[in-house]
Amino acid sequence: MFYDIARRYMFSRDAEWAHEFALGNLRRFAHTPLSMAWSQSVADKPVNFLGLEFKNPVGLAAGLDKNAECIDAFSQMGFGFLEVGTVTPRPQAGNDKPRIFRLPQAHAIINRMGFNNKGVDNLVANVKASKYDGILGINIGKNKDTPNEQGKDDYIHCMRKVFEHASYITVNISSPNTPGLRDLQYGDALDDLLQSLKNEQMDLIAKHSKSVPMLVKIAPDIDAVQVAQIAESLVKIVLMG
Ligand SMILES: Cc1cc2nc3c(=O)[nH]c(=O)nc-3n(C[C@H](O)[C@H](O)[C@H](O)COP(=O)(O)O)c2cc1C
Repeated sequence: MFYDIARRYMFSRDAEWAHEFALGNLRRFAHTPLSMAWSQSVADKPVNFLGLEFKNPVGLAAGLDKNAECIDAFSQMGFGFLEVGTVTPRPQAGNDKPRIFRLPQAHAIINRMGFNNKGVDNLVANVKASKYDGILGINIGKNKDTPNEQGKDDYIHCMRKVFEHASYITVNISSPNTPGLRDLQYGDALDDLLQSLKNEQMDLIAKHSKSVPMLVKIAPDIDAVQVAQIAESLVKIVLMG
């Protein structure tokens, strides 16, 4: 019933306004009796993957809680894992609004956000302040005004900052909303990025005595040849690492 009422109200407003309104309330009321409205206990269905034990296979995708502001509330909903971000080294505003569009007939939305986020230091502070102790993926990206040639520095910067706090790290090169980002998915640019990040990951594992798996998020709308090329690069780097 709560969902029906909330949905009707939210759908009467602009999509991004509704998003911010929801996040604001989740954050504000996560540790109050009002959290009963969304808290639920979900039966365990453990999944072992990446050396991690997920208490169930349903997770929150990146992009909903870009700044890790509501992880306690999302945990109360019963997710098996949470992925926060995409976060970039420096805060950035993202694309001009409107940039989220509902397609109610398809139960879908179109996203043209452009990595709007408050920067990696803010995200880390939010993670530290939370009580959440489940699986936390942290999804990292590059700032829009960082040229692709220096893109790997942005990913390395974020990896260093989030490493201690993440169960796994997602390197996001999938977004169509940051101009040129998807070029990092191919050829030498991809090899260079992956090799640099793999080296950094190894250094950080040694430094923190903690293993944090690295995942690479690629675009969903590429063809089979492109997928095979990316897979080849990944295998090459992993075998060399
Ligand atoms: C509004 C919106 C914002 C998103 N932002 C991000 C993001 O910042 N980083 C990211 O890796 N994916 C982002 N995504 C993609 C989702 O994480 C997910 O991969 C995508 O929605 C496909 O999953 P679905 O079919 O369950 O929606 C976003 C998606 C939406 C709809």
